[in-house]
Amino acid sequence: MIPVLSNSSVSMRDPKRVEQILTSMRNAGASTLQVISDFDMTLTRFACNGKRCPTSHNILDNSKLISEDCKAKLKNLLDTYYPIEIDSTRSVEEKLPLMVEWWTKAHELLVQQKIIKDRLALVVRESEAKLRDGYQQFFDHLHQLSVPLLIFSAGIGDVLEEVIRQAGVFHPNVKVFSNYMDFDESGVLRAFKGELIHIYNKREGALLNTEHFKELQSRSNVLLLGDSLGDLNMADGVMDLQNILKIGYLNDKDNEHRPKISKIRMDSVILFSVCWNIILLFFFYM
Ligand code: TMP
Ligand code: MG
Repeated sequence: MIPVLSNSSVSMRDPKRVEQILTSMRNAGASTLQVISDFDMTLTRFACNGKRCPTSHNILDNSKLISEDCKAKLKNLLDTYYPIEIDSTRSVEEKLPLMVEWWTKAHELLVQQKIIKDRLALVVRESEAKLRDGYQQFFDHLHQLSVPLLIFSAGIGDVLEEVIRQAGVFHPNVKVFSNYMDFDESGVLRAFKGELIHIYNKREGALLNTEHFKELQSRSNVLLLGDSLGDLNMADGVMDLQNILKIGYLNDKDNEHRPKISKIRMDSVILFSVCWNIILLFFFYM
């Protein structure tokens, strides 16, 4: 149906089911669709010229707003906890408290740095953050079709908003659930707002935002994009769900997961590499 679906970089647990979902969504039309996407390593590139691209946390961590001593501590946290995040031999139950530990320690360190709000835009401009190839068409197309795009991220909301603003794609149809910084009256970071979002509590985050999903109640078809098993729960707050097409990027879990791909729960479509086309094509077929 969509030629790119037969690329070797695409894996589907049940191709017939994917075809059924696509047909059903296409027939229902763009007015019934909503898109829910993770940010880091899903909307942004995982690597460029063989080098890792930064997450929204990394953009800050590597910036001149952070002291050398704090950079070393943040790097130490990354080296300790990231291998745990992508370790497929550990269960989610085992990883969850460790991920809370990572996020809590990282946010505490960032708060100690007395980061100034007005400096964030420059830090993002000077960073190596990169949205995936084809991002402009993706965001613009959704905007033209008035399809709501919810970016649901365990990263840092203020930073990721700046990334999409500077890329010129922070259109009015885009809404963000993420960890937002709380600045004091002189614009200095003093805490993070609200409940912490980490990679394994997106279900709770979704269920806390019932108002958003109520507003979109007539949009019963969901396109979900992510790169972590925790991202599978981002649509748990959607009301009257009819069809959901889940698209997952394997990124550096590739080697580890490729041989046992059929067991992966990210059920509809797995993309092994930077294969944005499939999503663009999805819209051209709507
Ligand atoms: P996401 O939900 O937008 O993908 O964001 C989560 C990613 O952020 C996850 O892959 C780990 C990453 N991360 C860092 O790079 N540095 C940090 O300090 C923390 C807490 C998370
Ligand atoms: Mg991610």
